[in-house]
Amino acid sequence: MSSQNRLAPARSAQRISADLEALSQFREEHSPGWTRRAFSQPYIESRHWVAERMRDAGLHVERDAANNLIGTLPGQGPGPALATGSHTDTVEGGGRFDGIIGVLAGIEVVRALRDAGIRLRHELRVIDFFNEEPNQYGVSCVGSRALVGGLTAEQLALDDGAGETLADGIRKVGGDPERVLDLAWHRGDLAAFVELHIEQGPRLELSDLPLAVVTAIAGIDRYRLVFEGQPDHAGATPMDVRRDALCAAAEVVLEIERLAEGTDGVATTGRLQIEPNAANVVPGAAVATVELRDADRRRLDDRGRRLMAAARAAGESRGVQVTSEPLTTVDPVPADDTVQQVLAAAADRLGLPHEAMFSGAGHDAAHMAAIAPIGMLFVPSAGGRSHCPDEWTDLDQVAVGARVLAQALLDLDASGGDR
Ligand code: GLV
Ligand code: MN
Ligand code: MN
Repeated sequence: MSSQNRLAPARSAQRISADLEALSQFREEHSPGWTRRAFSQPYIESRHWVAERMRDAGLHVERDAANNLIGTLPGQGPGPALATGSHTDTVEGGGRFDGIIGVLAGIEVVRALRDAGIRLRHELRVIDFFNEEPNQYGVSCVGSRALVGGLTAEQLALDDGAGETLADGIRKVGGDPERVLDLAWHRGDLAAFVELHIEQGPRLELSDLPLAVVTAIAGIDRYRLVFEGQPDHAGATPMDVRRDALCAAAEVVLEIERLAEGTDGVATTGRLQIEPNAANVVPGAAVATVELRDADRRRLDDRGRRLMAAARAAGESRGVQVTSEPLTTVDPVPADDTVQQVLAAAADRLGLPHEAMFSGAGHDAAHMAAIAPIGMLFVPSAGGRSHCPDEWTDLDQVAVGARVLAQALLDLDASGGDR
């Protein structure tokens, strides 16, 4: 009997469903939806639970200096490992599926292999990457950046606006910021990294398909813009002498929206804080976090320059001082051709139709591409909704994704994959 026929999808759906339900109970009580932000107490507690689930499945679990959880299943031979995984933190007001299914499916693959009595030639690593979503310090994908040597000293020194740095935060949750910069895995350590994720958009539903094989992942540049004007009495200060930081920021916010107009790229001001944030005070300061995404690095750089120019011009016309700071940058990343073919062939073998898809969302896989051939599989998102409490994917659809993930890992294991 071939190995794929020995995996039992019905049991997988039940076990993933039970795990998803249990993990979703770890949430921040006073935030909307299923919030479990990195550095929060529920996230810290939930990862003990994840580690326990990994151990129950038979994985040897380690937590590295960047607070990644890495579960290892020994292989029969020497050589590079195969890896899969994703993240279990959420955005504020987030859902139960983004990232989470990639970790739970990885654990499920290990259980399914054990049930079927299959031993891989390659070591298999299941990774729950620390803190994929943007955090209060302005950094995202902390764990995957660190794992490939991409986290910088400048990023570790970024602060949350109240004086606490990312390094402080990592220390608080039990990581070791001094060792984080030397953590890197190297090219050759992994034969491949494959991540299962929800689509987070509407296209699979529109085409009525259960799966997509990702072709490439968008590049993402984030900037922090600080507008410093002057707080004044909102009744007694005439309009023509004001130095309103929010009005300068508002002009730039609209200019940012225009940056991506008519293109396949996107531009978003997702965060805006103003001071003193009071009804009768002219805003004295505003801080905006801006994000540009595109498939092309040159277009991202060009929009970054236009963003700076727009910020300078708005500041000058309103007597507001504007400073800008690049927070993070990720290049657009193509998925490895061979891994894409393996994923598509695995779906074909299981009789599952699929399409090729570009990912506008960012993923840990984009960072893993620095050291390994990567590939990603998407399963549908109901109504295309994500980063919201209504995020939903039927558990049978998640199990289909887990099944194709298992098949692809078996095929990568059999084909060598040692490139
Ligand atoms: C990940 O959630 C992203 O911001 O794309
Ligand atoms: Mn997300
Ligand atoms: Mn995600």
